[in-house]
Amino acid sequence: MKLTGRTVLITGGSAGIGLAFALKFVELGNQVIVTGRRQAALDQVKRQHPKLHTIQSDVSDPTQIAALAARVKADFPELDVLMNNAGISRYKNLKGTAADLAGLTVELEVNAGGVIRMTSAFIDMLKANRGTLINVSSALAFVPLPCLPIYCATKAAIHSYTQSLRFQLEETGVEVIELMPPAVKTEMTADLRGDGITMITTEQLVKQSFEGLKAGVLEIRPGQSEQLAFMRRLAPNFINGQLWKASRKLVPMGADDSKPPRLSYT
Ligand SMILES: NC(=O)c1ccc[n+]([C@@H]2O[C@H](COP(=O)([O-])OP(=O)(O)OC[C@H]3O[C@@H](n4cnc5c(N)ncnc54)[C@H](OP(=O)(O)O)[C@@H]3O)[C@@H](O)[C@H]2O)c1
Repeated sequence: MKLTGRTVLITGGSAGIGLAFALKFVELGNQVIVTGRRQAALDQVKRQHPKLHTIQSDVSDPTQIAALAARVKADFPELDVLMNNAGISRYKNLKGTAADLAGLTVELEVNAGGVIRMTSAFIDMLKANRGTLINVSSALAFVPLPCLPIYCATKAAIHSYTQSLRFQLEETGVEVIELMPPAVKTEMTADLRGDGITMITTEQLVKQSFEGLKAGVLEIRPGQSEQLAFMRRLAPNFINGQLWKASRKLVPMGADDSKPPRLSYT
């Protein structure tokens, strides 16, 4: 992937992995627009990093995506990189009926629906500008961490979707990249604790990922992600069992809790 002189849109770029990538892209001489749901978070990011452009937009809302696409087409017609990064994760106990059945599938709307809708809304621009699409899935697309069951299902869905997309776009000039991070220290993983769960920092992720981007790797599997991909092929039952062992204490007490039990944190 060409890493300079691009115009990059990163969903969920006000924090965590998205913000770390945004700052790296700016450092390399790119124009970067970040989105997020919370205007206050975007305002703070803008104060700290004035070079970033910020636009409030929720990837789970088709109306907001259409408004974002119209605004970007008008203000940044040269946009040639879309990084579908926005995502959420919820701890779930599947053993009982959830009182909020709509809420049960909220991750599908953001992590899967958001990526698919954003890609469709920007595909004409990406084709016209012979651009690059970067979908952020996860190492958990290979092997589920059972305390995050719907989250992992969305990441497996995006892994599959991204492969189909790469084939369909092969003659359009649009480059399709998938970034599959291992566990990374961000707000999303603040409650994630367990034997065998190790985390890298956003700086480490950015360093390893940009090496992959520079080398033209289309499926980037930093750190433990590569090991999970390998183990999934070599010994799928073993690695599935290991991830269940590592995370079973993080399953919430009841079907309507969204946090792991406090006692399991230490
Ligand atoms: N952290 C990890 O260990 C890890 C590992 C593998 C993959 N990933 C993936 O990497 C991506 C980023 O994760 P992260 O750890 O950086 O998360 P994070 O620190 O929680 O940041 C999430 C970002 O997404 C935004 N966001 C959330 N929902 C949104 C929505 N509906 N529309 C637009 N923006 C939204 C948040 O801002 P607002 O709250 O203001 O919207 C925030 O800017 C996710 O797709 C995640 O699944 C993370």
